[in-house]
Amino acid sequence: MARFTTRAILASTRSPEVRQIPSAVPIYQAAAFSSATAAELGDVLTGATPGYAYSRIDNPTTAALAEAVAELEGAEAGLAFASGMAAIHAAIVSVVRAGQTIVVTQAVYGTTRDLLVRVLAGLGVTTEFVDPTDFAAVDAAMVRTGSPLLYVETISNPTIIVSDISALAGIAHRHGAPLLVDNTFASPYACRPIEYGADLVMHSATKYLSGHADVLAGVVVGSRERVDALRPLLVDAGGALAPLAAFLVLRGLPTLALRMERHSETALELAAWLAGQNQVERVHYPGLPSDPGHDVASRQLDVFGGMFAFELAGGREAGQAFLDAMQISERTASLGAFRTITSHPASTTHRQLDAAALRASGIAPGLLRCSVGLEDVEDLREDFELGLAAAEAATR
Ligand SMILES: Cc1ncc(COP(=O)(O)O)c(C=O)c1O
Repeated sequence: MARFTTRAILASTRSPEVRQIPSAVPIYQAAAFSSATAAELGDVLTGATPGYAYSRIDNPTTAALAEAVAELEGAEAGLAFASGMAAIHAAIVSVVRAGQTIVVTQAVYGTTRDLLVRVLAGLGVTTEFVDPTDFAAVDAAMVRTGSPLLYVETISNPTIIVSDISALAGIAHRHGAPLLVDNTFASPYACRPIEYGADLVMHSATKYLSGHADVLAGVVVGSRERVDALRPLLVDAGGALAPLAAFLVLRGLPTLALRMERHSETALELAAWLAGQNQVERVHYPGLPSDPGHDVASRQLDVFGGMFAFELAGGREAGQAFLDAMQISERTASLGAFRTITSHPASTTHRQLDAAALRASGIAPGLLRCSVGLEDVEDLREDFELGLAAAEAATR
C-alpha cells in the first residue's frame, strides 16, 4: 500500500463518476487533464482526438460558455477569453498582418482605440477611423487602405451610435473583407449581428452576458473556420478564461432575456423623461423616435437596450455635479450590471481632452453615459432629479 502523502494525493484527485446530469455546468477547476495512455495524450494535444489536456488550450467549463454564446448568437463556433479586450485583440490579430491598414469605426470603446493606436501600431498595423453612419466614407476608406477587415460596434461606447450591420457587411464583403462587430452593448438578446452578415462577433462578457459585475470575461463567435484561426491566439498568447469565471458568466445567461427586457423598459422611460427636462440638451437613445439611430435600431434590435447618454447644458461642471449628487447609481466605468452605473467621460475616462478634443470625439463636455440597472424606475428617476438639481446649482 502506498504511504500517507501518496495516498493523500491520489485520494484527493480522484474525480467522482457522475452518471446523472448536474443542474449547472461544473467548474472544472483543473490546470491539466490526464489521459489513459501516452498515445492518447499525444492525440488530444494535436487535436487528432477530442478531449482535454491543459486548461490554457481548452477546458470543459470555458468551452461550455463559448458554445452557449455561439448558440445564442447563431454562430457555428466560439472561443472564450480572459476579458473582452483579449477577445477583441485575438479577433483583430487573427485577420490582420503587419504592414496593413485597417478600417475601424471612430465611435469605438476607448481601450479598443488604445489597442489599435498604442499596441498594434507598434507592430506595423495602422488604423483609419471612419464615421460608421457615412457609408460613402466607409467605402472610400476600404478602397484607399485595402483593409483586410471592417470593425464596428453594434451600439457604440459612449456615444450610443447604432451601426447598420447589413449595410456595413455589404461594404466589407464587396471589398473581400470580413465584418467584425463588438456586440457588447446590445447583447445577443437585442441583436445577433451574424443574422445581418457579420463574420466575427466579440463580447465583453464582463457586461450583460454575466450581468452581475463580479467577473471579467470575453467571447468571440463566428464560422468554425474563422474561430479555428483564433485558436493560436488563445493558446500561444495565453489569454485563457479561468473556469470559475466561465461558470459565473454561464450563471448569468438564463436571465439575460429578463434582464435585457427590464433594462430596456426602464432606459426608455428614463430617456424619454430626461428629454423633457430643461437642463438636458440632447438624449442619445435609439429607442427614442427622435434619435438618428432609431430607424436602423428598429430594424436590427429586438429591444433598444439599457445604455443611453445625455448632454447637460451646463457642460463639464454640470456633468460632474450631477454625478456627485447621485445616491443610487454607482460612480464607476463599467456597465451591463444589475445596478445602475453613470459615468461622466469628460471628468473620468476622457479627462485629458480639452473641450475641442472632446467635441472631435463626439463627446460633449456635459455628456453623461448611463447603464440602466434593474432598480425600480421611480427610484432611478428620483436619483436623476437629485443630479439635475445639483447640476443647476453648480452652474447657476
Ligand atoms: C464596448 C466594449 N467592448 C469591450 C470592452 C472591454 O471589455 P473587458 O473590460 O471585459 O476587457 C468594453 C469594456 O468596457 C466595452 O465597453
